Amino acid sequence: MRTALVLPLLIAGLAAAAPVLAADSPEEAAIKAREGVMHIRAFNLGNLVAMVKKEVPYDADAAQTYAGNLKTLNQVDMRSAWMEGTSVDQYIDSRAKPEIWTGGAKFADHAKQEAEAADKLAAVAGDGLQAMAPAVKDLAQTCKNCHDDYRTD
Ligand code: HEC
Repeated sequence: MRTALVLPLLIAGLAAAAPVLAADSPEEAAIKAREGVMHIRAFNLGNLVAMVKKEVPYDADAAQTYAGNLKTLNQVDMRSAWMEGTSVDQYIDSRAKPEIWTGGAKFADHAKQEAEAADKLAAVAGDGLQAMAPAVKDLAQTCKNCHDDYRTD
């Protein structure tokens, strides 16, 4: 009796959820996806910054994992999530400045600098706090550089 009742409810629940998922336009889905990746970056970098600030003890294995995640995120090709027509001028949820699509190669240059800094960090994150700290700062600076140019406040 119990199972018989739960199953139809579950199916009804899934059916109700489906239109919600489908409601995102391709543009809204792209904005969500790229912001999601940014949040994963912030999570991993934030944990490393906490070690640098000595808010949590340095842990070589954990540091290597966070840094490895930051490096790996750059292997995900997110170019299709930066589709034209998704700037802050066009979508309320977007904080992407229109100059991303009109400013030539500079946006890609920022991404390249971030990727290089993430690679360098991943190479030293397990080697102790002293070795890691400057690489964390350098990476954070590349995030800020791009945000200063291409993200609204
Ligand atoms: C090449 C440029 C660029 C680099 C490099 C970059 N970001 Fe971003 N980031 C952006 C842009 C543009 C947005 C706004 C995206 C949007 O709202 O559509 C953003 C948004 C964010 C957000 C907010 C997401 C939201 O939901 O509004 C966070 C958090 C973030 N970035 C963290 C980081 C961290 C941490 C790094 C470095 C490890 C980083 N970003 C590197 C361009 C960049």
